[in-house]
Amino acid sequence: MTNATSVQSLFNTIAPVYDRLNQVLSLGQHKIWKQMAVKWADPKPGSQALDLCCGSGDVALMLADRVGPFGTVYGVDFSFDLLDIARERAAKAKNGDRVQWIQADVLALPFDDSSMDCATMSYGLRNVTDIPQSLAELYRVLKPGSTFAILDMHRPSNPLVRGFQQWYLDNLVVPAAKQMGFTEEYAYIAPSLDRFPTGKEQVQLAQAAGFSQVVHYPIAEGTMGVLVGTK
Ligand SMILES: C[S@@+](CC[C@H](N)C(=O)[O-])C[C@H]1O[C@@H](n2cnc3c(N)ncnc32)[C@H](O)[C@@H]1O
Repeated sequence: MTNATSVQSLFNTIAPVYDRLNQVLSLGQHKIWKQMAVKWADPKPGSQALDLCCGSGDVALMLADRVGPFGTVYGVDFSFDLLDIARERAAKAKNGDRVQWIQADVLALPFDDSSMDCATMSYGLRNVTDIPQSLAELYRVLKPGSTFAILDMHRPSNPLVRGFQQWYLDNLVVPAAKQMGFTEEYAYIAPSLDRFPTGKEQVQLAQAAGFSQVVHYPIAEGTMGVLVGTK
């Protein structure tokens, strides 16, 4: 995946199977990790919370539970098809009316400077075509003193765990995707992991964007990580 149009078209294509395959890919754990990211972002009642690369809406809906009846969540993604699924889910969810779903590029956010109280991004940073620009936009729209939490997959440093990760990609994820007719679309995961910056590099990128108190927390034996920082 080299340009934004191919990323957008890939996620539109896999939208119908995205939620089911997430279950397989994470061995059913992804919602726990997403809740961890939400907790680190520290959404307060009555606040304006932003979920970047919101996809089918898991994290935005978790934020909606936290911001309460006077808060608003903005779920931003450029995949029309995933946003349609998010809207359908929100219509059935308890606090779904607290989320505004916005079709936009996270590299050029349609928000004013210093307008958001906190932000999350789950499995998005590995897919954007320009990580420094993505962090710069995040920095621009957050209010001073507010926090972001970015969850994503990683290549673990432990060779045994790394071997297990590659095994489950090859033997669980790709076969499951193949059964649903999406072999090529899911083959992108391994190369995207190989070129994704390490936790330490992500800390440096976030600091270069202007953030302070930046920490990267490895989770799930280093197969996942959450980058947390403050503007
Ligand atoms: C792996 S999915 C993650 C979806 C959701 N956050 C989750 O955790 O289930 C990555 C998402 O990033 C979105 N995305 C990638 N680059 C984007 C960009 N530049 N602007 C907006 N959305 C983008 C894709 O459309 C896709 O929905």
